[in-house]
Amino acid sequence: MAVAAVAFMAAVAASLLAVAAAASPVPAIYVFGDSLADVGNNNHLVTLLKADFPHNGIDYPGKKATGRFSNGKNSVDFLAENLGLATSPPYLALSSSSNPNYANGVNFASGGAGVSNATNKDQCISFDKQIDYFASVHASLVQSLGQAQATAHLAKSLFAITIGSNDIIHYAKANSATSATADPSQQFVDALIQTLTGQLQRLYGLGARKVLFLGTGPVGCTPSLRELSPTKDCSALANGISVSYNAAAASLLSGMAARYADMHYALFDSSAALLRYINQPAAYGFTEAKAACCGLGDLNAKIGCTPLSFYCDNRTSHVFWDFYHPTETIARKLTSTAFDGSAPLIFPMNIRQLSAI
Ligand SMILES: *[C@@H]1O[C@H](CO)[C@@H](O)[C@H](O)[C@H]1NC(C)=O
Ligand SMILES: *[C@@H]1O[C@H](CO)[C@@H](O)[C@H](O)[C@H]1NC(C)=O
Repeated sequence: MAVAAVAFMAAVAASLLAVAAAASPVPAIYVFGDSLADVGNNNHLVTLLKADFPHNGIDYPGKKATGRFSNGKNSVDFLAENLGLATSPPYLALSSSSNPNYANGVNFASGGAGVSNATNKDQCISFDKQIDYFASVHASLVQSLGQAQATAHLAKSLFAITIGSNDIIHYAKANSATSATADPSQQFVDALIQTLTGQLQRLYGLGARKVLFLGTGPVGCTPSLRELSPTKDCSALANGISVSYNAAAASLLSGMAARYADMHYALFDSSAALLRYINQPAAYGFTEAKAACCGLGDLNAKIGCTPLSFYCDNRTSHVFWDFYHPTETIARKLTSTAFDGSAPLIFPMNIRQLSAI
């Protein structure tokens, strides 16, 4: 009886999966990372790293502050839209419901998270913890679908990861006096990549086969880091680390794909892609690429976006929403480049091609 019920539920779940699969080349998106991808996990934490209050969400449907660190939607919303899927719900909202459905995708991303557990410790869900949560989601999928179906489902699904910015920001702020020529940042990047290697191996072990890695952006040009410079220039140290980190992540992923014939990936060079808008804002229709739209103080970067902060009238003319995060307009443009663009910005294939495998 119990066995029959389980088999019946597996059959129902399998047919639901078949319907989803027909509409999109990928049945689900599993999201990991930081505030660039958080869609509300931190709303459920006791933390300072939150965005579930105005003016965040001012351009979101219903002007709702959902916990996204944005004036509107973020990159994972546009990723889902491009694939014809609903945005994957936050794990902490889903897991508290009575009968969570993990087969339509889950978002584990948490504002503040880094590759290292030490980054914003106890203020966010660390990447390691996100993978722990995914391990329990994996177990639950195996239980509801059966091992073979769960494996097939995950192999078709997209694993979107954006992680590393917070580690780099912390390092750059702590080492801002270091000269760019004599800095030990290569050791720092090596340590991050070593940790990241274990984390991606774990995800592969749990069934990830289509990995979208969104590299770190030019974090030295975020209003927060610019504001620290007397001349309001980008932090060359932070931007340099971001470039090295993305290059090292690229060789890590190509090594994994060489070792595992069934693993495919796309890597987005967020640094190069976003720098186009920062270096030549007018060419792309932006009027402000330095100051944040929402915040207070120099460059609106001394204080983040709170209900008491100033915010700009025209968000579509700004590159940065707050002291760390891009506007919805930028998120849409970057996602569109990653989806249909080509090397060197997205390689060795774009998201459309990765999805179709
Ligand atoms: C990070 O935290 C996870 C638990 O979430 C733990 O398993 C792991 O060992 C920790 N890593 C380090 C380097 O402390
Ligand atoms: C907002 O900025 C965009 C881009 O700079 C511009 O095209 C648009 O006309 C502006 N809208 C308003 C209402 O000023």
